[in-house]
Amino acid sequence: MSFDSATLTYKGKTIDLPALKATEGTTVLDIRALYKELDVFTYDPGFTSTASCHSNITFIDGEIGRLLYRGYNIADLAKSCDFMEVCYLLLKGELPTDVERKDFVKEINKHSMVHDQMHNFFKGFRRDAHPMAILIGVVGALSAFYHDSLDIKDPEQRDLATYRMIAKLPTLAAMAYRYSMGLPFVYPKNTLSYSANFLHMMFAMPTEDYAMNPVFEKAMDRIFTLHADHEQNASTSTVRLAGSSMANPFACIASGIAALWGPAHGGANEAVLNMLEEIGDKKNIPEFIKRAKDKNDPFRLMGFGHRVYKNYDPRATIIRETAHEVLKEVGGDQDPLLELAMELERIALQDQYFIERKLYPNVDFYSGIIYKAMGIPASMFTVLFAVGRTVGWIAQWREMIEDPSQKIGRPRQLYRGKQERAFKTVANR
Ligand code: ACO
Repeated sequence: MSFDSATLTYKGKTIDLPALKATEGTTVLDIRALYKELDVFTYDPGFTSTASCHSNITFIDGEIGRLLYRGYNIADLAKSCDFMEVCYLLLKGELPTDVERKDFVKEINKHSMVHDQMHNFFKGFRRDAHPMAILIGVVGALSAFYHDSLDIKDPEQRDLATYRMIAKLPTLAAMAYRYSMGLPFVYPKNTLSYSANFLHMMFAMPTEDYAMNPVFEKAMDRIFTLHADHEQNASTSTVRLAGSSMANPFACIASGIAALWGPAHGGANEAVLNMLEEIGDKKNIPEFIKRAKDKNDPFRLMGFGHRVYKNYDPRATIIRETAHEVLKEVGGDQDPLLELAMELERIALQDQYFIERKLYPNVDFYSGIIYKAMGIPASMFTVLFAVGRTVGWIAQWREMIEDPSQKIGRPRQLYRGKQERAFKTVANR
C-alpha cells in the first residue's frame, strides 16, 4: 500500500490525489485536479479540513499545544527575545545577529511618526467611536498617504510598506485611545523600545515626565510576541484573500483588522473581561457554566476553546505567568477578577463537558486581565492584538505575493437557491 496518494472514484472514473508531505504536521491531499477531471467541488465550510495555502512561517500542533515561529518554539522566543527580534524572524526567516537587529530597529524607528494630516483624519471620528472602528479606517487611509509604497510588484516598495506598518501601528493605536479620551496625541520617542514607546504614547502627559514601568514594558513586549502570528486564522486568511486580488498592503491589513474585531477571534479578550464582570462573584460560576453547556443558550465561556488547539494553548501558559507578574507589580495579586478567572478555569477544566470537547483556556483568557491591571480600557484590547499581529499579517502577505504560483483566491459554492425561473413584471407579481 502506498501513502503517496489517495484514489478517488466518482461516477466510474478514478483519479489519484497526490499526498503533499508537510515538514511538521498533517499531510495534505492535493485536490486541484478534482474539478477538471471529475467535474465536482469539495464542500468544507469554515475550512475545517482545507489547507488554503502552503507556508513556511508558523506551525501549530493543536493536539499537544505547540507553536513554532520559523521553527522556534514560542516559549523560547517569549523568554529570550524581544518583539523586534521576533518581527525580524517572522519577516526574514532567521533570527537577527546583533548588528542586523540594530539596523532593523533603526529602519522601523524611521517610520514611527504618521503624516501630520492624519491628525485631521482622526478628528472626523466621533469621540465615542470604538477604537477598532477608528483603526480600520486609519490603517486603510494609509494607502491615501503613502503613494510611494503601493506598488506590490516592487520589492523595495513592499519593504517600505512593511516597515511603515510595523512602525505606525502602535502610533495609530495610541492615537485612537488618546482621541477617545480627549487627550493630546503624543509623538513617538525612538530612544525607547517598541513596547515602551507604545506605552509612552498611550499614557505620557505633555505636562510631566513619564516613568516607564519595566514590568509593564516586558509584559507588553511578551504579549506582542505571543500574538505576532498564528498561521491561517480568520484575519490572516482575510489578509491573504484581499491581497490575492493585488490590493495594496495597507488595504489588506485594514481588512485583517476588520476580521480580527469579531468576538469569536480577536474580540474575545474584551469579551472575557465583560464576561468576568457579568459573572461578578465566584458563587455565580456554576450558573454561568450551566448556561455555557446549554445548547438553547447562546452564552459561551469566552476565552475557552480554539479551532486548532485541542490541548492547553501554549501562549496561555506563558501569559498566565505574565498575568501574575503584572498583578503582583500593581499590588493586585489578590485582585477579585483574577481570583474569579482562576476559579472559573479550575471548575471548567474539571467539568466533563469541557474535558470531552477539549476546551482549554486560550491566550485571550489572560490578556484582558493584564491589560486591565496596566490601566488599558477594554475597548483597546483588540487594538493591542492588532498591533502585535500586524507583523504576522505582513509576513503572510509577503510570502503570498512573492510566490510565483500565486492565484487570486476564489472559493466555489454549493448553490441551493432557486433554479432559473420565468420573470414576472411588477403588475403580475
Ligand atoms: N463555551 C462553551 N462551549 C463551547 C465553547 C465555549 N467557549 N467553545 C466551543 N464549545 C462547544 C461547542 O458548543 C461545540 O459543542 P457540541 O460539539 O456539543 O456542538 C463544541 O464545543 C465544538 O465547538 P465549535 O464551535 O464546533 O468549535 P470551533 O472550532 O468552530 O470554535 C471557537 C472555536 C470559535 C474559538 C469557540 O471555541 C468559541 O466560540 N470560543 C469562545 C470565543 C473565544 O475565546 N475566541 C478566541 C479564540 S482564540 C483567538 O482568536 C486568539
